[in-house]
Amino acid sequence: MMLSIRDLRVSFEDSSGDSTEVVHGINLDLARGESLGIVGESGSGKSVLSLATIGLLPGTARASGQIMFEGQDLLTLPEKQMCGLRGRKIGMIFQEPMSALNPAMTVGAQIAEGLRLHKGMSQSDAKTEALRLLEMVQIPQATQRINSYPHEMSGGQRQRVGIAIAIALKPDLLIADEPTTALDVTVQAEILDILDDLVTDLGISLILISHDLGVIARISDRTLVMYKGDEMEHGDTERVLRSPQHDYTRKLLDAMPSRARKSLDQTGMEGPHA
Ligand SMILES: Nc1ncnc2c1ncn2[C@@H]1O[C@H](COP(=O)(O)OP(=O)(O)O)[C@@H](O)[C@H]1O
Ligand SMILES: [Mg+2]
Repeated sequence: MMLSIRDLRVSFEDSSGDSTEVVHGINLDLARGESLGIVGESGSGKSVLSLATIGLLPGTARASGQIMFEGQDLLTLPEKQMCGLRGRKIGMIFQEPMSALNPAMTVGAQIAEGLRLHKGMSQSDAKTEALRLLEMVQIPQATQRINSYPHEMSGGQRQRVGIAIAIALKPDLLIADEPTTALDVTVQAEILDILDDLVTDLGISLILISHDLGVIARISDRTLVMYKGDEMEHGDTERVLRSPQHDYTRKLLDAMPSRARKSLDQTGMEGPHA
């Protein structure tokens, strides 16, 4: 297994020293090239789980259990080594791509910077590679757009750039936390297709996080349903959609817009209402 999380618990300490556990012993496994969806309403602990995995929990958080990634326990890994893994081995895509971008640099320069710093590429090699990455995430007219600043791009294009940056160093694992939540439906579908292709073409493992089961259903092999820090159910996406074992999953299915259910039908899944 590339990633094995065992009994992960995370709690936060408040100013009076009281501690509240928000993730209550989550287990999950992810193999190379596999795609796992984590779904649950806001406050379920999805982001806390992903931040724990990339070692970016705030200082007030305490985590216990194990996060084994390629043979190392990330929970006990010194920050210096964690820093080396972040970006290089584990890439991250956030809901608001602007937060991951530097507003004062062209998108091409931002992608190239990481390649020069971490891969030791020359300026011109890094620029060529940046262009290739922008084409991979289907930025139209990439040769021109490479010189754009983030604010000159649409939300969907910025998220494509965010993905290009996240995959630039060829990570083994990509964590996408609500990557399409801020985008309109059409763009959402395009971004999900790009992520799906990357997993297939580059053999990257993907953890896709969303409050929307329709988003997860579109590309994830397996689905973990979380509620208030607990696992509700976990299994093959198709099985979870066809025969949810838990009332909470049924609630999420009912909350899915009919449009999303239709797209499930198109992928050959019958869904619960067929
Ligand atoms: N920095 C923090 N300090 C205290 N509590 C937090 C912090 N971040 C998240 N939480 C709490 O942890 C729980 C899970 O949050 P989160 O992982 O962000 O949920 P989700 O991503 O599923 O919407 C929530 O109850 C939230 O209030
Ligand atoms: Mg979140």
